[in-house]
Amino acid sequence: MTKDDRTTKGVNTRLAHIGNDPHAFHGFVNPPVVRASTVLFPDARTMETRAQRYTYGTRGTPTSDALNAAFDELEGSAGTVLVPSGLMAVVLPLMAFASAGDHVLITDSVYSPTRAFADQMLSRFGVEVQYYDPRIGAGIAALMRANTTVVFTESPASNPFEIQDIPAIAKVAHAAGAVVMMDNTWATPLFFRALDFGVDVTIHAATKYPAGHSDVLLGAVSANEAAWPKLWQAYLLTGAPAGPDDAYQVLRGLRTMGVRLERHERSALEIARWLEGRAGVARVLHPALESFPDHALWKRDFSGSSGIFSIVLEGGGKAAAHAFLDALDIFGLGYSWGGFESLAVHVSLADRTTGERDYGGPLIRLQIGLEDVDDIKADIERGLAAAKSHS
Ligand SMILES: Cc1ncc(COP(=O)(O)O)c(C=O)c1O
Repeated sequence: MTKDDRTTKGVNTRLAHIGNDPHAFHGFVNPPVVRASTVLFPDARTMETRAQRYTYGTRGTPTSDALNAAFDELEGSAGTVLVPSGLMAVVLPLMAFASAGDHVLITDSVYSPTRAFADQMLSRFGVEVQYYDPRIGAGIAALMRANTTVVFTESPASNPFEIQDIPAIAKVAHAAGAVVMMDNTWATPLFFRALDFGVDVTIHAATKYPAGHSDVLLGAVSANEAAWPKLWQAYLLTGAPAGPDDAYQVLRGLRTMGVRLERHERSALEIARWLEGRAGVARVLHPALESFPDHALWKRDFSGSSGIFSIVLEGGGKAAAHAFLDALDIFGLGYSWGGFESLAVHVSLADRTTGERDYGGPLIRLQIGLEDVDDIKADIERGLAAAKSHS
């Protein structure tokens, strides 16, 4: 697909055709799954100069190239690398851009394992990590230091879904010479093209909506022109490429991501609206709801909403949360999200250091799957009825 196609063609048309060129491989619609370590060279001179497209399995294959090209097209990035999990997609750019003696700013609303990596490994390597309120916006200027090299964002936030003012944060960070990273997993590039808003490095747990079927782990990191060389270097130095079968599965998932997201979005919003003001539900935390505190910011920057949001139960603590979860039949109790099936989890904000932490009742995160909405609602009603006896 050409650059012009991005503006002239619909998103589902693009998703159906991005990535591989069928005619580059005998006309087969899908790319080959190339399982590779060794790549042979025709002669010593070619081997010495590495003067051919593929040289070793860790440096790319036709399969990884197809998925990288798809992400580059969706994100408008200069380059993408694929790693074995979404968490590794967070870790790799932090390792690429943070050095001993640096100060790194990370949103306090970050996915908990990102915080664990920063606290337990980055700090061991001499990087000072500071957490900031996700709603800080341009106020982040007050936290910037001469040695701040990275500002890490995640929007919406994991679990309470606060929206960050990415353009304001990026402006301040760039003026101070820092690189802006964003975990963009919730929105996918379909609902938020991070690089267009000033982000330099965008991160996807492709495990979620791109894969879409709860059967693959994969991370994608995409960078703009300026950040790409350093990211690519870190990718080569760490030797952690995603496996070819996983890359293939994610490209396959991308073909239907647009239509799946349409359904996730519609069902999640319908259920979120239905839950607002319902007995037993104190709050519904979904950025696309008018009642959500950051709704205006979400509306300004995002072109859609995906399928996870949280509800706050009306009091009751852990016993109510467990009663809610145990009464569910369609919803699975499990981590992750972005698959075809509904999932629920009781989330804790105990590791937060700034901002809103106490929502006055247990926080339940719901991933709304592709099941029929009436069945999902009936399941939630069962959960609310069970929680009621504990409130
Ligand atoms: C926002 C966010 N980023 C990254 C990840 C990590 O993805 P993975 O499970 O592929 O390691 C997750 C997983 O839940 C996530 O929610």
